[in-house]
Amino acid sequence: MKSTVTQMWVGLLASSIAVAALRDTQLPLQDNHQTPLSGSSSPAVSVASPPSYSENLVALHKSLVEIPSITGSEANATAFLRDYLRGRGFTVETQQAAPCRDNLLAYLGSARQTRVLVTSHIDTVPPFWPYERRPSSSSSDASDEVWGRGTVDAKGSVASLVTAVEQLIESNTIGSGDVAILVDVGEERGGEGIRAANNLGLTWETVIFGEPTRLKLARGHKGGLGFNITARGIAGHSGYPELGANAIDRLVRGLTALAAVELPWSEAFGNTTLNVGKIQGGVAANVIPELAFATVSVRVAASSPKAIQKLITEAVLAAEPEIELDFTYGIGPVTTDYDVEGFETIVLNYGTDIPGLKGDHKRYLYGPGDFLVTHSDHEHLHISELEQAVEGYKVLITESLNKKE
Ligand SMILES: *[C@@H]1O[C@H](CO)[C@@H](O)[C@H](O)[C@H]1NC(C)=O
Ligand SMILES: *[C@@H]1O[C@H](CO)[C@@H](O)[C@H](O)[C@H]1NC(C)=O
Ligand SMILES: *[C@@H]1O[C@H](CO)[C@@H](O)[C@H](O)[C@H]1NC(C)=O
Repeated sequence: MKSTVTQMWVGLLASSIAVAALRDTQLPLQDNHQTPLSGSSSPAVSVASPPSYSENLVALHKSLVEIPSITGSEANATAFLRDYLRGRGFTVETQQAAPCRDNLLAYLGSARQTRVLVTSHIDTVPPFWPYERRPSSSSSDASDEVWGRGTVDAKGSVASLVTAVEQLIESNTIGSGDVAILVDVGEERGGEGIRAANNLGLTWETVIFGEPTRLKLARGHKGGLGFNITARGIAGHSGYPELGANAIDRLVRGLTALAAVELPWSEAFGNTTLNVGKIQGGVAANVIPELAFATVSVRVAASSPKAIQKLITEAVLAAEPEIELDFTYGIGPVTTDYDVEGFETIVLNYGTDIPGLKGDHKRYLYGPGDFLVTHSDHEHLHISELEQAVEGYKVLITESLNKKE
């Protein structure tokens, strides 16, 4: 599926549900609901305690998290990962997405055209929170916790998918021409990285996107629609309201109408929801405000961004004609593939790079960590989740290569 919308938007991401504490024991999990990978058909069932690659995985994750890479300032983290991948024998191309902001494309040998692409992003939201390792506070997962900005969104995915590819190379399961790794910039704001990736001149049968999904395989995620509402008035002395026009009053009428709009829903994606995330206006209590505006984000679960835009515009303007709406982006619900056995599935409310990457590839969305802790001051995950994600990515990659084009 191809997206006709080029403007990317930011998503909430992450996830850190304790899935299994298999590090020290191989007991069955207590909570079956939290067992995404089970049954003999799934090689991702359990992680040996601890797997041979665990130390490297944790060290790579730590290095990535320790280097701040807030959107716009990714350069140091990108340089680290470039050198790391070269040190591991990959051919690594850098692709400028913006000044001093590069995407990395890594592959084996000289075959840059591969059947499968695994991808995630290096940038994080602000502010930076340092790396910290803590003993587990969970009854269901005894493995240590790792706290810090990006531990979940999305450096957990980056470290796990790089390790998964390394493991598959080591076991001779994959070779040149099979898999490439794309780590991009700007996912959290603007999407420059994934837009630039469309100019790599490559296509893939399958693209695996790494974002926190609580180790579940996504069936899709909601789309998004963003807009500003601006109300203008006429400034004046607050004692003589009849001589001015109050922009805040106008904005409030518009927002009241907005809150009453019935937004579409679907079985697959749930309700379309709306968040008035910022509001600003006026200068002082005794001045009639000349300007007021609000910024709104809609999570689209059904219908199309165009249709919702029309619905909203009509309702707001009917309530208050002296108002302007500026729509900044619009993306419909995004469906992803989930035809690989052994995974629990989930629908997510956050945005990703997925609609920004053109092509008619299969699309999987999967990764370690809980999306509910991302973008917060308590972003963290368990080390066992990183290990399980490595196993999950290995399954997704090998299953993708097993499918005939
Ligand atoms: C990169 O690291 C250097 C040296 O530690 C530091 O001075 C610089 O501010 C960092 N650059 C970015 C973009 O964070
Ligand atoms: C919407 O408002 C924000 C916040 O003031 C501003 O940065 C952005 O440029 C505005 N966008 C449009 C399309 O008006
Ligand atoms: C969707 O909205 C309806 C009506 O407001 C509400 O009853 C329902 O619980 C919502 N569903 C979800 C999944 O939030």
